[in-house]
Amino acid sequence: MGKVHEATVSAPVNIAVIKYWGKRDSALILPTNSSLSVTLSQDHLSTRTTIRASPDFPADRLWLNGVEEDISASKRLVNSITTARKLREALEEKQRKDGIPAESVVPLSKWSIHVCSENNFPTAAGLASSASGYAALVSALGALYDLPQSTSELSRVARVGSGSACRSMFGGFVAWQAGVADDGNDSLAVQVANRQHWPELQALILVASDRKKAISSTAGMQTTVETSSLFAERVRTVVPQRMEAMKTAIANRDFENFAEITMRDSNQFHAVCLDTYPPISYMNDTSRAIVGLIHAFNAARGRIAAAYTYDAGPNAVIYALKDDMRDLVELFTFCFPREESMLADAFYPDPFGVFALPEEAGQRLTDPAVARLADTAGKYPAGSVRRIIHTEVGDGPRILPASQSLLSDVGMPKRARE
Ligand code: DP6
Repeated sequence: MGKVHEATVSAPVNIAVIKYWGKRDSALILPTNSSLSVTLSQDHLSTRTTIRASPDFPADRLWLNGVEEDISASKRLVNSITTARKLREALEEKQRKDGIPAESVVPLSKWSIHVCSENNFPTAAGLASSASGYAALVSALGALYDLPQSTSELSRVARVGSGSACRSMFGGFVAWQAGVADDGNDSLAVQVANRQHWPELQALILVASDRKKAISSTAGMQTTVETSSLFAERVRTVVPQRMEAMKTAIANRDFENFAEITMRDSNQFHAVCLDTYPPISYMNDTSRAIVGLIHAFNAARGRIAAAYTYDAGPNAVIYALKDDMRDLVELFTFCFPREESMLADAFYPDPFGVFALPEEAGQRLTDPAVARLADTAGKYPAGSVRRIIHTEVGDGPRILPASQSLLSDVGMPKRARE
């Protein structure tokens, strides 16, 4: 067998603190405003992707969590793969021009690929995976094709897959600059600070159970652009100011400002959704209860000690510093008991050792003000929060060794599902 041309990578999820909502060009996925996010640890949430190119493959194929998907049915998949292939083609062209003998230039751009991709978190958790998915796809293509482009340049390729994916190309704190060029050349991600910059910052994801199917981000933001008058004000004045204030808060590790801007921006994004016609509402009763609890928690602490943010769904992401996390987790597990059928370890896995014993969660509120708050708030129906994920700021896409490949010797998924 000849040399195997393959790359395996993993890529992280990111959660915006200044939201992307609205496109000025839907084909190229160019946003109406800049946005800023925090990359979360791949130890808890990530997508792993293996891509192999071979002259023996008759066509491009892709498997997602063990199920084959039709690439040609997704314009976004076709766009990102084609864009990466063109970059490879240009590289091969350059190698030939540079006098590298034709037989040494591997024509990877001409060969079909097999793509195999898996999330390490259950899809049932209701967490969007398109950002980590496209970041993994593009990082794997970049590694396979040996592309000379910088990470920011490659983030443009992830962007044509899904806007928010361009921010998952970096770890730490990441801005997606909206740009002004019609061809999207300047619409890319840049790292604002790396993951080591603020090690005390942690995140808690509260997965809220939801029966209704939400309107997709893609469809929702399009209707907002067309119908909301509040939205214009957000794009013109609010976001540009917040981007600067947020960068300053991050540079200074100023949690109170970071948190206030995060909450205000989440609130405005959901207000703009309600101002869309017909209105869109992503938050449910549990989401709104969590907003109330965070403000009450901050009042009990006498400072802004926690921030919430919500994307296009009811799940809450809470940002807080490590020292405040224990009380927050205790508060949430008291107010949102798990369903009997859910094992404690699955409901709140404990990577940071917050609980002595998972069974004791919610029993040890040490701050009397928070204990009083828990008493007043009371308990919500078991299962309103389906799962709690405790995580922290993480790094960008990682290139993994061949031993981590998801493809077999013959280039088929090692683990396939019906
Ligand atoms: C609410 O990136 O999923 O999560 O570009 O159409 O794929 P497309 O949309 P997507 O939108 C994410 C919207 C958001 C806010 C954010 O992540 O900034």
